[in-house]
Amino acid sequence: MNTLDTLKNCKKFAIMGGTFDPIHYGHLVTAETVCRELDIEKVLFIPSGRPPHKQNINISDNEHRYLMTAIAAEDNPRFTVSRIEIDRPGMTYTVDTLGALRKMCPKSCEIYFITGADAALMISSWKTPSKLQTLCKIVVVTRPGYDKNSIAAEFERAGLDVEKAVFMDVPALDISSTDIRNRVSIGKSIKYLLPPNVENYIYKNRLYVYTPDKKTAEKAEVIVKKLKKTLSSRRFIHTKGVAEESVKLARVHGADEKKAYLAGLLHDCAKDIPNKEKLELCKKYGVEIDKVLAEQPDLAHQFLGAELARAVFGIADKEILDAIRYHTTGRPDMGVLEKIVYLADFFEPSRRYYDGRDEIKNLAYKDLDKAVAFSLKHTIDFNVKKSRLIHPLGKKAMDFYEEFL
Ligand SMILES: [Fe+2]
Ligand SMILES: [Fe+2]
Repeated sequence: MNTLDTLKNCKKFAIMGGTFDPIHYGHLVTAETVCRELDIEKVLFIPSGRPPHKQNINISDNEHRYLMTAIAAEDNPRFTVSRIEIDRPGMTYTVDTLGALRKMCPKSCEIYFITGADAALMISSWKTPSKLQTLCKIVVVTRPGYDKNSIAAEFERAGLDVEKAVFMDVPALDISSTDIRNRVSIGKSIKYLLPPNVENYIYKNRLYVYTPDKKTAEKAEVIVKKLKKTLSSRRFIHTKGVAEESVKLARVHGADEKKAYLAGLLHDCAKDIPNKEKLELCKKYGVEIDKVLAEQPDLAHQFLGAELARAVFGIADKEILDAIRYHTTGRPDMGVLEKIVYLADFFEPSRRYYDGRDEIKNLAYKDLDKAVAFSLKHTIDFNVKKSRLIHPLGKKAMDFYEEFL
């Protein structure tokens, strides 16, 4: 149903604009409160097109923001979502949207425009702000106890009558879209901050996760094409998971995100090569086959992976190559990128569940050394249980990191 149909018979409706990137419970509680308090028939959520004050900020695709808002609004019969700003080319100005809506509905219809205190404090910088109150009633939602004097002063600057505005306290919900985006980008939970179906939408569409710059993306595309030829689809999904988890860890720990991405993508590039061929390639690239590798050639995939990353995938960076080279055994005194890829490999989302996985993941975002110590211990205990040999590098790594347990 289009906006006009929705409002045709409406006598009193409210507009709630925003980037909704993403929409969250703070927006929904605000809309619901205004709706009940002012006895409003419909709240029209209007995701913005290209907001002038956010020109330089990378906001999600219009359709994603529109769909998330629609999903969030679907179970409330009073809520509806409009494409009016999304579909309008060029800049988005509130006054233009209000003007367009005013023309759509009968003169007797009351229009309320909901805005937060922060936005109200900048209202004099909006396009022709003094016109706003000729088109609608402004509702300023504030936290209980908010000092309204500064808003009153701003209204005066904007040529608006603060007496005509409705001030409404809405219980403080300390949720922000920026915080949600940041949390997703570093792998933190966003549960209970927004409706579960919006949460699922974000994960399904991989919103707010790392997108490599053009040069890295081109490089990654070439790598991915080659990897798809040699890796099983399951391994490929794991590989993507490690690349993305590595980026999140890199962001939190101040490491290079591009390197983390490439190291994650390539860490298992030799994993699915048949063992016999693995050993032949090790010989070709000068990887020494010690007693443990001779018995468990699969383990050689880390050393061979680093050689193939260099020779076949054109990676010259030592940090990336070392992160691949030691991602299974670990080694004493690992570099930040080595620890990151080692850990991401340990708990990226497609990994089967095992006891302690979530604890190690949480730890990894706080303390890399501690997380490495626990995962080394976990791996060694597991291999001992399975009567597998422990590689000397793994033993040395455990000796080194034991103090962090
Ligand atoms: Fe591996
Ligand atoms: Fe792996």
